[in-house]
Amino acid sequence: MAYTIHCAYFSPTHATEKIVETVTGEIMGLLPQPSKGQVINLTPPSGRKPIAAFGQEDLLILGAPVYAGRIPAILQPFLSSLKGRNTPAIIVSVYGNRHYEDSLLEMQDILQEAGFIAIAAGAFIGEHSYSRLAAAGRPDSRDLQLAGVLAAKAAQKLQGSVFQPIKLPGNYPYRTGMAAAPRSPKTKAGCTACLLCAGLCPSGAISFEDPRLADKAVCISCCACVKACPQEAKYFDDEGLLQRKTLIESNFLERREPELFC
Ligand SMILES: Cc1cc2nc3c(=O)[nH]c(=O)nc-3n(C[C@H](O)[C@H](O)[C@H](O)COP(=O)(O)O)c2cc1C
Repeated sequence: MAYTIHCAYFSPTHATEKIVETVTGEIMGLLPQPSKGQVINLTPPSGRKPIAAFGQEDLLILGAPVYAGRIPAILQPFLSSLKGRNTPAIIVSVYGNRHYEDSLLEMQDILQEAGFIAIAAGAFIGEHSYSRLAAAGRPDSRDLQLAGVLAAKAAQKLQGSVFQPIKLPGNYPYRTGMAAAPRSPKTKAGCTACLLCAGLCPSGAISFEDPRLADKAVCISCCACVKACPQEAKYFDDEGLLQRKTLIESNFLERREPELFC
């Protein structure tokens, strides 16, 4: 079958994007006569619009970071609008070197309910949103090589005509996600009000009128602003987040490797 390949990702600090783009590029080179479908960047609010239904000749590659062992809650409305018709999917979770817990299982369940069949999945590691030490610089070349292996295994499966569902780790009930702690980034004097942070904030929390202001009620603490600010002017000083950062940097620095499920 000649598949049309669509890739979709939510990726405030770009780790998930790198893995999903690599899987997509690799599989394009492996399948017979593939067509490139939509690239659905779910990171900006404008990217999370409902889209047309997928069919059997489509392949969806979907990736999301792990937030508290789950899929980021901000993606739920988009994910529940997806519609497939026995559409094969490759699913990717990217976590900050602690654990991915129920995130792959949750993504598989949502997709199955929507008419997709997860034929392959991977749990990958990306630099932790809260830290520059935990999984620093990841995904690296070894991770991207394994993203290529995931693509190759999925391509092999797509040559067949019947897809068996894959068995993914995770538990029911899913891990209770984090309570939405009302917090928002602070801004140092070095801010030049360039508005980069406001433009890339996935929840639209940062004000375009004054990017020093952010709405605590909508900020998801993804740290896109912190990691992208050219002046290093954005930071969180919230006690809960700082405790989490210390916990991660004290316990989860040992390198973890990607896991593939095919
Ligand atoms: C709110 C929040 C919760 C997170 N929870 C987890 C977690 O449960 N386990 C983990 O290993 N990493 C966790 N992380 C780290 C991200 O999963 C990781 O940094 C990922 O690479 C971010 O992907 P992105 O670069 O595509 O945004 C969390 C990050 C944030 C912002």
